[in-house]
Amino acid sequence: MPVIGLQWGDEGKGKDVAIISSSLNENDVIVRFQGGNNAGHTIWYNGKCFVFHLIPSGAFGKAKMHLGGGMVIDPYSLKQETIEIPDFENEKHRISVSPHAVLTLPTHCLLDTISEKKLGDKKIGSTGRGIGPSYTDFVWRKALRVGDILDVNFKERYEALKTEHFRILKECYQYDPEVDNFTEKENKFLEGIDFLKTFEVKESNLLIQETFENGNNVVAEGAQGTLLDVRFGNYPYVTSSHTIAGGIAPALGVASQLVGGALGIFKAYVTKVGEGPFPTELGGEKSSVWCRDKKYTEEKEVYPNPNPNSEDLFEQGVALRRMGNEIGATTGRLRRTGWLDLPLLNYAVKINGVDKLSMTKLDVLSGFNEVKVCVKYKINGQETKNIPFDISRSEIEPVYQSFPIWKGKLSDYDGKLPEEAVKYIQFLEEEIGVPIIRVGTGPEEHHSVEKYW
Ligand code: IMP
Repeated sequence: MPVIGLQWGDEGKGKDVAIISSSLNENDVIVRFQGGNNAGHTIWYNGKCFVFHLIPSGAFGKAKMHLGGGMVIDPYSLKQETIEIPDFENEKHRISVSPHAVLTLPTHCLLDTISEKKLGDKKIGSTGRGIGPSYTDFVWRKALRVGDILDVNFKERYEALKTEHFRILKECYQYDPEVDNFTEKENKFLEGIDFLKTFEVKESNLLIQETFENGNNVVAEGAQGTLLDVRFGNYPYVTSSHTIAGGIAPALGVASQLVGGALGIFKAYVTKVGEGPFPTELGGEKSSVWCRDKKYTEEKEVYPNPNPNSEDLFEQGVALRRMGNEIGATTGRLRRTGWLDLPLLNYAVKINGVDKLSMTKLDVLSGFNEVKVCVKYKINGQETKNIPFDISRSEIEPVYQSFPIWKGKLSDYDGKLPEEAVKYIQFLEEEIGVPIIRVGTGPEEHHSVEKYW
């Protein structure tokens, strides 16, 4: 079953995957099929917060975890991340890696950050983790893959690719990698390669076929979100992989009919990190510039107690960020915030073949006097529920509908949801045409309501 983010990432997929994983057994598999350590999946376990970047969100369950063929892997980052896993040495046998996954080299990270710098205010706002350049090398047919690390010529092949990257950095970007202590970065990479060698390397397609043949389950955990898909997101403000459910088949080498419908995850509001269009952003342009330039500590100084019901929409956005703790799990950046956008959500639901929905973080809206949702757009005076080809080039005016807010905290309702919340959810189900099977009411696994009616 695919678990896919329906917005710009950070929808809380990790929590849903962790909930699902608690009912999986040791013969089931959770697989990541795309992306790299640009992802940040936050999981609360026993009251403690864990953030995983490469490892599928199943560390606290029994199922096998697989890093699939469509991923890009920074081996040192993988090593660092495993330190997070309690009793890792005893859990390691549950993790395998596809030989097709592409290696992220330290020079990929440099190419990512230096090329972004050069773009100035036209930058994508990448996480700087080398994701774009790693995928570029893959489609350019120059990449090194996990399966190459056992090749006796691996070191020479690495040196050749590094030399090529150095040439690009020097000639195209006038940047000398040696000035920033490249040797230290390289040593960490090589340490990561040695660590990677200690994992089982397994073809994703074989693992998945075996799992299905034995009647067991596969959960394909998406990273980022639909609106960051390299083709169907808001290009060019996207990541470099296919984040949609249709990306699973070519990433893992499984037949498309095996992929099936998807569980789509969306947040009760919308957030975005990085640049690009965001029609329902609270505070509009001011918010996007603020989130690009300010640090969390600076924001806290200026807005120690932001008012969610302020007349100023920008301040409402700051309050939403504070209430939802919307700070990037990977980069620490401020996430831009805004109201739920149904035209975009409906687009994402259709493109992924979503047949079940999970809405996360509804509790975060409790501080507002009303819940707003964008039900359609006005573009050049015309109302539409469809999204234009390039939303960054369209003047979009969101049309909102408001709903009354519930009283108190959602956790006060003891496993049920208040009438106001139920009416709001039923409205969304009607507008989207897909059932919402779970609603998040807090960060931990038990903070969710499955039967809200
Ligand atoms: P990249 O994937 O690092 O190249 O970044 C490209 C765009 O995707 C930037 O706007 C990033 O902020 C965004 N992005 C990448 N990974 C994530 C994620 O896990 N959550 C949210 N946004 C992401």
